[in-house]
Formats: sequence, C-alpha cells, structure tokens
Amino acid sequence: MDAVHDTDNRQAAHWNGRAGRAWAEAQEMLDRVLQPFEDLLVEAVCAASRHRVLDVGCGAGATTRAVARRLGAQGHCVGIDISEPMIAAARSRAQPEGSPASFVRADAQTHAFQPASFDMIISRFGVMFFEDPVAAFANLHRAATDDAELRFIAWRSAAENPFTTTAERAAAPLLPGIPARRPDAPGQFFLADRHRVSSILEASGWAEIDISPIDVACTLPETELVGYITRLGPLGLVLQEADERTRAQVIETVRTAFDSYVHGTEVRFTAACWMVGARMASRDGRSP
Ligand SMILES: C[S@@+](CC[C@H](N)C(=O)[O-])C[C@H]1O[C@@H](n2cnc3c(N)ncnc32)[C@H](O)[C@@H]1O
Repeated sequence: MDAVHDTDNRQAAHWNGRAGRAWAEAQEMLDRVLQPFEDLLVEAVCAASRHRVLDVGCGAGATTRAVARRLGAQGHCVGIDISEPMIAAARSRAQPEGSPASFVRADAQTHAFQPASFDMIISRFGVMFFEDPVAAFANLHRAATDDAELRFIAWRSAAENPFTTTAERAAAPLLPGIPARRPDAPGQFFLADRHRVSSILEASGWAEIDISPIDVACTLPETELVGYITRLGPLGLVLQEADERTRAQVIETVRTAFDSYVHGTEVRFTAACWMVGARMASRDGRSP
C-alpha cells in the first residue's frame, strides 16, 4: 500500500534523506518531548467520538498508535507519511506491541485515498510541509466523510518559539552555512500565519475553521539536550558535515546558549502553537 512517486519533491527528498533518518533515530526522545500534543489529539478524537481516523505526516507513528489504542476494536487509525525511514520506524514500533494501527508510505498531497473514508483527520506537526497546501488539504477533504472533523497542531512563528531557533542563532557565527528559515516556504513555520491557515483551509473546501493559540509546556532531560541540538533542525543537518574541531566548538557554544532553559536535570520550554479545527463543508462548498 506504499506509493511515493513524487520523489523530485524537495520535502520528499528532505524527509527521505538525513532529516528523516535523524528524526527516526531521535524519535523516542521526541515522543517524550511532544507527548502533551499527542494527549491533546487523543482527547480530541475521543471527545468527537470518531472511529475512522487518519494521522497525516504521522512520522514514526506515536500519535497513530496512541489513537488506535484508545479506539480499540471500535475503530481504526491509519498513519500516512512520505518518509521511508519514518514509516519503517512506525511499523517496527507498532508490530511488537500488536498495535492495530496501520501505516501507508505516500504523499498525503496526492495519495489516492478512498473517498469519504475517514471521519477524523489529525496531525501533530505533519501538515506544514506540503508543496501545494491547497491541493493537499483538498485531497484530505476528499478522503473525509460528510461529518468529518479536521484537527491539527502547527507551530506559531519562530519569534514566538525562541527555543526552537536558539541552536542555529548561537552557531551562526561559527557556521555561516546554516540555511535561513523561510516562513513563506514549506517547513516548520509555514503555517505560523493564521490568515494563511484560514485561506488555505477555505480554498480547499473546509468550513467552521477554528484557529486557537495553545502554549504548551514541554520538557526533556538535560542529558538529551546535546543530542537534540546536534541531530535536529537546520543546525543538525549542517553539523553532520562539519569537522571534529568545529563540531566541538559549536556544541560548546550552543549548549551555553541554552543555559536559561536548563533547570537542574530538566530542560523546559514553551511551545507556541496553533490548535486548528475545521469541519467538512458540503461537497458543493456550503457547510452541511
Ligand atoms: C515534524 S515531523 C512530525 C512527525 C510526527 N507527526 C510526530 O509528531 O512525531 C513531519 C512529518 O511530516 C511528514 N511529511 C512531510 N510532507 C509530507 C507529505 N506531503 N505527505 C505525508 N507526510 C509528509 C514527514 O515525513 C515527517 O515525518
């Protein structure tokens, strides 16, 4: 059931290359950091009493498995992701626990979903990477039943999330090649502008759009901080190419820049995000 034809897509290349492998390797740690968001999505599925759930950009499948566990025999949760290393990690984590979750490796923007097959579509940080977001959300709209609900979490701006860019700002003088963040291009902050989010959803046929800010307390053990800094994000990618001396210098400088987030054995930060909800407009464009 895997179908990725669009491999000249930049995001497909990104998530099937080093970035996807780095995420898959760091997934246990990331899942602990992002646990509060998993809880919010599981609660949303339960509150809405939905049973056929699609998890978009599911990565290594933590939210997919958590929703499937909660639904039990009453429902089903399918995770879709464009990245081979992420889907491989998702399957290998689901299999030993006998999870009923299932996984598809495909581009959610173009995948030929069975029409009207999901009554809830969720995502934890998996919908900011579409090359053509209107086409992608329209494709998800076709996959949704007439009473379906869309619920996803995306980052607000880089300015509101200083923790997430501390590493690259601190490393910039030592590593000038770190690519700049582009909030107008697919990537972590692509849905930071709420007006962009609502116009994408309206243009792709979704209605009753609700975009609420959420500020979520996140933690990770201090012992994992250097792994977080060196493996993930733009710095993680550039650092893989740096020589040992530069690497050591960068790690020392960047680790110091995180001091204000370290409280004893714990690193604490606030994630400034949007919780976005929407419902199906009827297929002729009006709300049901
Ligand atoms: C930031 S990660 C989040 C992963 C996961 N939802 C989590 O919370 O751990 C973004 C995920 O979106 C996936 N992705 C990016 N573009 C995609 C697309 N067009 N179709 C499906 N998945 C996509 C990436 O491969 C990656 O796994």
